[in-house]
This record gives sequence, structure tokens and C-alpha cells, in this order.
Amino acid sequence: MARDRRDKYYWKAKDQGYRSRASYKLFQINGKHHIIEEGDTVVDLGAAPGGWLEVAKEISGGRVVGVDLKKILPIEGVETIVGDITSDRTIEKILGLVGQGGADVVICDAAPNLSGNWSYDHARSIDLTRSALGCAKKILKPGGHFVVKVFQGDMFKAFLEEVKDNFSYTHSYSPKASRSQSAEIYVIGKKFLTSPVRRGDEFDVEITELGSSGDGAVLIDSFVVFIKDVEIGDHVKIKIQDVKPNFAFADVIEKMD
Ligand SMILES: C[S@@+](CC[C@H](N)C(=O)[O-])C[C@H]1O[C@@H](n2cnc3c(N)ncnc32)[C@H](O)[C@@H]1O
Repeated sequence: MARDRRDKYYWKAKDQGYRSRASYKLFQINGKHHIIEEGDTVVDLGAAPGGWLEVAKEISGGRVVGVDLKKILPIEGVETIVGDITSDRTIEKILGLVGQGGADVVICDAAPNLSGNWSYDHARSIDLTRSALGCAKKILKPGGHFVVKVFQGDMFKAFLEEVKDNFSYTHSYSPKASRSQSAEIYVIGKKFLTSPVRRGDEFDVEITELGSSGDGAVLIDSFVVFIKDVEIGDHVKIKIQDVKPNFAFADVIEKMD
């Protein structure tokens, strides 16, 4: 490794006995966004050599599973799988370990081998990131949290929207331990949604009830949706704007009669 790449976090990891300087990125992400809690089941996608696994185990003390194309040297109390996170076979193996109840947290620091061609590398990185999101959607518990590394570029915004469609709260965060010249950023999705309505969905509804705040309140597949500026008896077309774990907000896009 070139001398100038051995920065403060490289030496800190050596001193404190972590496998990689990346460990501090997860400490910083977790310090700011409170992703992993004590007792959580955590799945780490693209986990070799295991710096994040050590941190996840230290914070949660619960079940921790690491997956990578490369073999991960044993870590006490951590289970590992050699596999490709883009393959269904790997997802089945993960579910075999965490059980059908699913994981509380999925974290992903995976990165493809870089070719040096910026737009090609960005596209491959977004592909991998999308696979991680697909994997998280299959293994997370309702309300679970997700962290994924993304390389910024023109496809970043579209990816962020996909995360927003699946989580109640979404943030982007650059931990101090990321190298200043790096294009990487971490996208955080909190509270995985399993609700029957999603941002952008449209419905025709009749307002029969008002909530305590005076907004219209309708049930869609037993899920409460609040609508501003309506009265009892209105028949309206609505568009879902924001989804929270137990309710959603919608705007009227058309008055029907
Ligand atoms: C930056 S390293 C992860 C470092 C790790 N967070 C740590 O703290 O030690 C990225 C890893 O992603 C893995 N990876 C890349 N593509 C993958 C894929 N399709 N399936 C599984 N792992 C993958 C690589 O093998 C590599 O070990």
C-alpha cells in the first residue's frame, strides 16, 4: 500500500485491532444514525475482510452474518457465507441462517473491482447497490434498517428514490473516515416499509371520516391515509406523498364530482 494511503484510520485500526480502517465508517454511521442496536440480527453484504462484522458484533452482540465472494477469516460469534449477493442462492442461504423472521439490519459496503473508466465503474457500482437493495427487501423485517455504499454519479438520484420508496426515512451520509477524494457516500434507509401503499400510488376515494387534526382519513387495505383540504362527502382522486410505518399522507390531485 502506498505510504500516503496509510492515514489516521489505518493506524487506528492497527492499534485497536480491527481488520480494516472501514470499521470506523460503520462506527461513525451508527453514531450519527443509530442503525444497529443491542440484540439486533445484522447481515453484512460484501463483508470481507470483516472490519464491519467486528463492529456489528461489538454493538449488537446478537446474530451477525457476513457474506462475500471471498472467504472471511473466522470472527468469534459471527457466521459467514461465501457467495455472490446478486444470486438468489445466496439470499436463500442468508435466510437459512437468520430465519424467516428476517434481519433487523442489512448493511452493505460492497464494491465492484474498479476498471478506472468512470462511467462504466459508476454503472457497475449502481448495479451492485441495487442488488443489495433487492437482497435487503427479501431479508429485512418490517421496520428494519438498511445502509449501503454508493458511488456518486448521474444514476445516484434515481437510486436514492428507490430507497425512498421502500423506507420511511432516507438519508445520505459521508462519514469522516471516508477518504476525502472518494466518491463514495452511504445511503441509509430507516424503517423498512411493508405497507400496502407507496409513494406515487393513486386512488379514487370517498371521504367519510375526518381525523383529529381535521384531515380526511381513509383506509386503504386497512392502512390509514390522511388527506388535507377535504370534507366529508368529497369524492377525490389522491396521490400518496409520504409513507410512514403506520399511516401515509396523500394530496388531492382531482375532485371527482
Ligand atoms: C470495501 S470491501 C468491504 C470491507 C468491509 N466492510 C470491512 O469493513 O472489512 C468490499 C467487498 O465487497 C465484496 N463484493 C463485491 N462484489 C460482491 C458480490 N457480488 N457479492 C459479494 N461480495 C461482493 C468484495 O469481495 C470486497 O470484499
